[in-house]
Amino acid sequence: MFFKQKKTDLPKKDDMKKIVADSGIKHIAFIMDGNGRWARAKGLPREAGHGVGVKAFKNAVTLCRDWGITTVTTYAFSTENWKRPPQEIREIMRLLDVYIKEAEDDNDKNRIRYIFLGNKDRLGEELAEKCRYLENITKDNSLILNIALNYGARDEIVSAVNSLIAEGKAEITEEDISSHLYTRESCDPDLIVRTGGEIRLSNFLLWQSQYSELYFTDCLWPDFNEEELIASIVEFSKRKRRYGGV
Ligand code: FPP
Repeated sequence: MFFKQKKTDLPKKDDMKKIVADSGIKHIAFIMDGNGRWARAKGLPREAGHGVGVKAFKNAVTLCRDWGITTVTTYAFSTENWKRPPQEIREIMRLLDVYIKEAEDDNDKNRIRYIFLGNKDRLGEELAEKCRYLENITKDNSLILNIALNYGARDEIVSAVNSLIAEGKAEITEEDISSHLYTRESCDPDLIVRTGGEIRLSNFLLWQSQYSELYFTDCLWPDFNEEELIASIVEFSKRKRRYGGV
């Protein structure tokens, strides 16, 4: 079930623009799993894995942008992650806070449009406001970076349906639901990459993944580097996408 490519078979970084363009991949999504295990294996506290995980994520976003991918989505914190120990939750929120500050500072250089997927109410007023502010100041940028934060796909679908009920809709279409999801600004993901060895979606983009290609690797997220990203996109480029047709 895992996709392993011999490193020698991988194309060079310089070939990636063409491979991305030919494959048609526009939107890549990441389930960044394995941070805790990566840290534990090194005798470090789990939180240390999340810190290195942010660096791996920034690197992946830069490469995706350079190669022409127009939308990147990541699963930073799920509605279920509140069950984690308080110090781990605090550290993830601190990393997000730092990340948001850097994103603000680098806005002129990076030209990334940040969108937070999920209900901001549970984040606390200060963090929620920082998320809204970053969304607002970057709204005219072209590369969409969706950060799923306090996100759950079922919660997202239920919220969309409730909004439609509140609007007085008596009958709803697929388009109505899609246009009321947190991801309404993005096309559906072409490729969902999950690191860390688990083979499931864990309540991530369940509506949007209808025809997404799935890629699972046992690489732990902090080790997800350029080579791993290239391997996932090359695997995607080999898939035949028929969308239910022949
Ligand atoms: C999954 O690994 C990782 C998370 C639930 C949190 C990921 C969050 C970050 C990397 C920090 C914030 C993100 C951004 C984009 C600024 P795990 O802890 O479940 O790993 P394990 O399966 O080895 O325990």
